[in-house]
Amino acid sequence: MRRIVVAIDGPGGAGKSTIARRLAARLGFLYIDTGAMYRAVALWAERQGLSWADVGIMEQLAQAADIKLSSDPLKVVLNGEDVTEAIRRPEISQGASKVSAIGGVRRALVDKQRLMAESASVVMEGRDIGTVVFPHADVKIFLDAAPETRAERRVKELAEKAPPPPPRESVLSELQERDQRDRQRAESPLLQAPDAVLVDSTSLTVEQVEEAILKVIREKIANGKEFARK
Ligand code: DC
Repeated sequence: MRRIVVAIDGPGGAGKSTIARRLAARLGFLYIDTGAMYRAVALWAERQGLSWADVGIMEQLAQAADIKLSSDPLKVVLNGEDVTEAIRRPEISQGASKVSAIGGVRRALVDKQRLMAESASVVMEGRDIGTVVFPHADVKIFLDAAPETRAERRVKELAEKAPPPPPRESVLSELQERDQRDRQRAESPLLQAPDAVLVDSTSLTVEQVEEAILKVIREKIANGKEFARK
């Protein structure tokens, strides 16, 4: 059967991970969280006391990193070690955003991402999937939401993991700082591909977003009925 690529891009906190994971499970596709790969490189650098600004070294780390992703159970394994939780720390969010601005890091990870989609249909989420990684993806979604809503969701997510909830203002300003860096960098900045469908999740439930995207998938893929499992 033909392999399908569903690309989901957008800023942090728009709901990409939740939605991409649900869609992948529903369609029977692989779920690939490319942000986790940038996070893994940032974590590896931090652990070795290396600077995220060191372009050459970061590129070497990205090339050498052995990153394995699995979605059931959700797991990120870096060089054989489970780093699923460790890569979610707020400092690593900033580090990932910094190392992801380095061209050599991006090239190394994009190669790995393309390889991952060679053997299976995928739902891949990130910032540049529809623009750079798979410019000919079968389906491209740009998932966005108002900054305050994205910050609110992040606060809830962090509070569930480790109460008490962090101050909303600091979460919002960190998200905005990261967004700005991701949108303004020279290498593969975060932007909506001209042929991507914009989905604004600000006032939608997870189920509504999922249904909206499934509708797009069915419309874009002629024989979409075969994916309508539920
Ligand atoms: O989706 P996330 O928050 O886990 O991503 C972490 C950082 O990695 C984000 O600030 C930007 C970067 N990133 C990227 O540049 N390209 C991708 N395809 C995915 C993430």
